[in-house]
Amino acid sequence: MGASVAKKDDDTPIGPTGRPYRGFPTPPKLDTHGPARIISLCNQKGGVGKTTTTINLAASLASYGRKVLAVDFDPQGALSAGLGIQTHESPTIYDLLLDTKRDPADVIVHTATENLDVIPANIDLSAAEVHLVNEVARETILSRVLRKVAPHYDVILIDCQPSLGLLTVNALTASHGVLIPLECEFFALRGVAMLIETIDKVRDRLNPTIELDGVLATMYDPRTLHSREVLERVVEAFGDDVLETVIGRTVKFPDASVSGMPITEFAPQHAAAQAYLRLARELIARGAVA
Ligand SMILES: Nc1ncnc2c1ncn2[C@@H]1O[C@H](COP(=O)(O)OP(=O)(O)O)[C@@H](O)[C@H]1O
Ligand SMILES: [Mg+2]
Repeated sequence: MGASVAKKDDDTPIGPTGRPYRGFPTPPKLDTHGPARIISLCNQKGGVGKTTTTINLAASLASYGRKVLAVDFDPQGALSAGLGIQTHESPTIYDLLLDTKRDPADVIVHTATENLDVIPANIDLSAAEVHLVNEVARETILSRVLRKVAPHYDVILIDCQPSLGLLTVNALTASHGVLIPLECEFFALRGVAMLIETIDKVRDRLNPTIELDGVLATMYDPRTLHSREVLERVVEAFGDDVLETVIGRTVKFPDASVSGMPITEFAPQHAAAQAYLRLARELIARGAVA
């Protein structure tokens, strides 16, 4: 939420994570672009805001002049649908995984949002896991695909599926950083230990430099004690890894998805659009994005 919720003695507003509220400056324009930093949005729990965050963070970064590629890595194809991309007949990420010699340019879709491109997915991707199991270096296939396009972008965001299977391991292996969205609801932290364990295993065996870029609290409702308590527990568990930006709960997100537009375009003045713009500025300020 953009607004502060409490005040300290010296009148510094306090944000919902208990730290002084900062707006983060408008980032300077980039003169040159690439190579991309690659970030996975990952949580094996469904419905926590991975796809919503990928779409709206991608659009927000694009609005600050960053060249952004969003990769739909969930067979449900919600990211593609949320950006109004039809995927029945056109090639998808699945085609790139199965034939790594294929040119990604054939698959990349330029969206109506300036600076925002997408590699779409559809249900075909659910077969990829089975196909990839017998491949040599099966965990690094996405990494090899993205290496070809990384020079053309400042940031690549991967919208992971809700599982810790081979596709997610591919995403983590390809990534410099990982963002974990957590819904401010019952059992938000359940399963997070297993996710952290998976990231640690990938760091040990496949990708020694992967970093936790942040934990993002989503669907926060400051009016409920419950939401505030969950956020408090998340801050206890993750400390400063919890991003200061918190995404409030609002029906504008389902509305925006139906429209096939990021909320930053569907309702740019809405608090939720402003929250994702602030998240983009915070990640730039933290150095997670150029
Ligand atoms: N901040 C929010 N407030 C209200 N609804 C939200 C919010 N973020 C996401 N949603 C809705 O919750 C559902 C799940 O979100 P989604 O981003 O698809 O989660 P995931 O990708 O983790 O499964 C979607 O219907 C989405 O529109
Ligand atoms: Mg999703």
